[in-house]
Amino acid sequence: MFSVREVYLSKAESLEQLGTKPKFWFTGENGERLLFKADQRGTGEDWAEKIACELCGLLGLPHVDYELAVDLDKHRPGVVCQTCSPPPASLILGNQLLLAHDQRYPTEAKNRYKVREHTVAAVAEVIKALYPPPEDWLKGLPKGITSATDIFAGYIMLDAWIGNQDRHHENWAALKLENTLQLAPTFDHGAALARQIGDTERQQRMTTRDAGFGIAHFARSARSAFYRDSGAKKSMTTIEAWRAFSLYTPSAYKIWVSQLHAIDAARVRKILEKVPLDRLSNIGRDFTDRLLTENRKRIVDGDEI
Ligand SMILES: Nc1ncnc2c1ncn2[C@@H]1O[C@H](COP(=O)(O)OP(=O)(O)OP(=O)(O)O)[C@@H](O)[C@H]1O
Ligand SMILES: [Mg+2]
Repeated sequence: MFSVREVYLSKAESLEQLGTKPKFWFTGENGERLLFKADQRGTGEDWAEKIACELCGLLGLPHVDYELAVDLDKHRPGVVCQTCSPPPASLILGNQLLLAHDQRYPTEAKNRYKVREHTVAAVAEVIKALYPPPEDWLKGLPKGITSATDIFAGYIMLDAWIGNQDRHHENWAALKLENTLQLAPTFDHGAALARQIGDTERQQRMTTRDAGFGIAHFARSARSAFYRDSGAKKSMTTIEAWRAFSLYTPSAYKIWVSQLHAIDAARVRKILEKVPLDRLSNIGRDFTDRLLTENRKRIVDGDEI
């Protein structure tokens, strides 16, 4: 089982204002700066974040490392992670990077979702100007993946695998140290893996004879936070976004797909089984497994577009 770290709201040093979930920063036993993210609504953001983090590990992506946690003051589950931008580094979020590139880019907080200017082309242009993440984050990277664009393409393939619809412009970033901008590790995957739908719907989708309600159909409905162009009515699906990004780095496309293809399904299952049952039920494990299998097949087959 994954360990569950005990934290206390009463030891909070500051509250994190960015993002939508309640979060606080505190100092760990070794002086490290830690963030607790609560799953206050019981919608499974904790297990989704933990599983996504482990899957990042299988792919070799630079990622924030999340641990399951419980806030014993408020009796709420969540996750804990270390800051990825310890001082003197700072985190510059995607919207600020896009603004620097285009003064008309809408950065107001209310504009986090459905930002049509959050196009694959605009984001790819910004990422191209970044250095890869600092060396320490690159240990598991597959051979041949070198640039920030190569790595970011991996983040977008991860999103397609885990059905992450939440890669909006505050959920990717750069690390700024002196005057150098490096791609930040991937973070905030708590809205993935259809974690909000509940076991009744999971069970129905796994057993239905109606293809329009089954898992394959459901997997195809995942939409990204990226637009093909600023006039587009709908955001792209997660698979469309992945294919569009990968056009900026065809060599990385091949490497990431074979990396995903090579992952043993039993290792994925093992990760799911390490989440305590009071956070993710057996139905939840089975459904998540099938969703990941379906999405993996769609990515590896590559014949949807
Ligand atoms: N590991 C980290 N290191 C440094 N800053 C972080 C880290 N994790 C989160 N943050 C900061 O906190 C903000 C909110 O965190 P995060 O995106 O994980 O939360 P959220 O509430 O789930 O967000 P959302 O509303 O996008 O779902 C981030 O945009 C970032 O500025
Ligand atoms: Mg966020």
